[in-house]
Amino acid sequence: MDSKTMAKRAQSRNIGTEGKSEGYERHVLVCTGKSCCGDKNKGVETFKFLNKRLSKLKKEGRRFRCSEVSCLSICSGGPLVIVYPEGTWYHSVTPEVCARIIDEHLLEGHIVEEFAFAHNPLVQKCE
Ligand code: FES
Repeated sequence: MDSKTMAKRAQSRNIGTEGKSEGYERHVLVCTGKSCCGDKNKGVETFKFLNKRLSKLKKEGRRFRCSEVSCLSICSGGPLVIVYPEGTWYHSVTPEVCARIIDEHLLEGHIVEEFAFAHNPLVQKCE
């Protein structure tokens, strides 16, 4: 497999390949490991809820990406979610909390501070 072929594959999944705005707006990682909430189904439930809502938003022209991960190394207070590029870490993300994160953070750009416990942005700051 070469990089050009991989880039085409990425483009078919709405992943930007030129560093421009053609890609997705935000990336949401959801931990579905059982160690952070004692029950793997809770993380899976949140992931399924998120995936369904993001699919609906895609039909409205919004481009968000979500990925299921097996562990984020905190292993407590789950389900855990991270939203990039802000690098906002959320705890206790039930489907109800996830709905708030979608409405307030993804769509409006406001962090849901009530459930945020860490901020590790990956964007460069210009001064
Ligand atoms: S299992 Fe979720 S952070 Fe480790």
